[in-house]
Amino acid sequence: MYPVIEWKDGTVVMLDQRLLPAEKKFLTLRSHLEVARSIRDMVIRGAPAIGIAAAYGIALGVAEMAGRPEPGRTGFLQERFREIVTAITSTRPTAVNLFWAAARMQAVFEQHQGDYPRLRRELLAAAEALDREDYEINRVIGRNGSTLLRDGDTILTHCNAGALATAGYGTALGVVRAAVEAGMKVQVIAGETRPYLQGARLTVWELQEDGIPVTLITDSMAGHVMQKRMVQAVIVGADRIAANGDTANKIGTYSLAVLARYHGIPFYVAAPLSTIDLATADGAGIPIEERDGAEVLNFRGLATARPGTIVYNPAFDVTPAGLITAIITEENVLHPPFGEAIASLQGLRRK
Ligand code: MRU
Repeated sequence: MYPVIEWKDGTVVMLDQRLLPAEKKFLTLRSHLEVARSIRDMVIRGAPAIGIAAAYGIALGVAEMAGRPEPGRTGFLQERFREIVTAITSTRPTAVNLFWAAARMQAVFEQHQGDYPRLRRELLAAAEALDREDYEINRVIGRNGSTLLRDGDTILTHCNAGALATAGYGTALGVVRAAVEAGMKVQVIAGETRPYLQGARLTVWELQEDGIPVTLITDSMAGHVMQKRMVQAVIVGADRIAANGDTANKIGTYSLAVLARYHGIPFYVAAPLSTIDLATADGAGIPIEERDGAEVLNFRGLATARPGTIVYNPAFDVTPAGLITAIITEENVLHPPFGEAIASLQGLRRK
């Protein structure tokens, strides 16, 4: 729908999501360090999109070596590849898709490191495949999740788990899109998602572009709309799902899950299998990114609190598995107990 990221003539082109909805501008990135900076600075964000950016960034890093002395020498390549992967993976710690994508690229590197021209082609092909696959996976997540909704439902979502956060279509918003495509009249309530406003700036924008009814609320209004029975389901994305189902997602997600439980509203997580991290037993092991306090103290250059105020700015929180009604994946809809459901996933075992 929107070319959030693409490979074009040996460069990586990204939609600059920091400027939305005011401006639709694309950045052309010519080095893996520029791609790394774009991930860190939120030009591109959302777990699957970060994974795709990582894959293209690594392919670009290896392509940058063309014409340099000795790219064919295995030791040289190995050293450079390690540096490229480190630069890309040290950008944002929480979304596991970043590390998953890097591991996929590493496997391609190991297979073809003896032949530099072939290695370049194969890495690019792997990044493009990952990009295409993510779109297809979102379509399936959407179809699987739409079976949980009913005509007339209002869905509360948080942050942006839409086309902008993926190769297109979205995870949580993919479920909404699939419901609309199936002929259901559904609408969305989007929390603005302080401090970065992914809900207000991105979710509202992309739903409006698609003509899907959306109402914006501030995050603190969520309890009120649930109490007023204005919400039939909460659907969010995920940055990392631990082996027991504990789920890290944008800060504020946990509060929504507690509120949903109190009001008897189903709370769904929609995510691809690549977001499930079997190596992390539970939520306590998920690294939570802390971002610059300036994001809380200012909005677009305007101070919203006294400069120098002490700020705590965790970008994500962990929703315990016990508060999640179901996890919607491309393989199937997982129900509690999630530890067992996750362990039985065929798609994860193959990877
Ligand atoms: O800080 P962000 O904007 O990268 O956070 C994004 C989220 O928390 C999304 O909900 C998550 O990555 C899922 S995107 C399909």
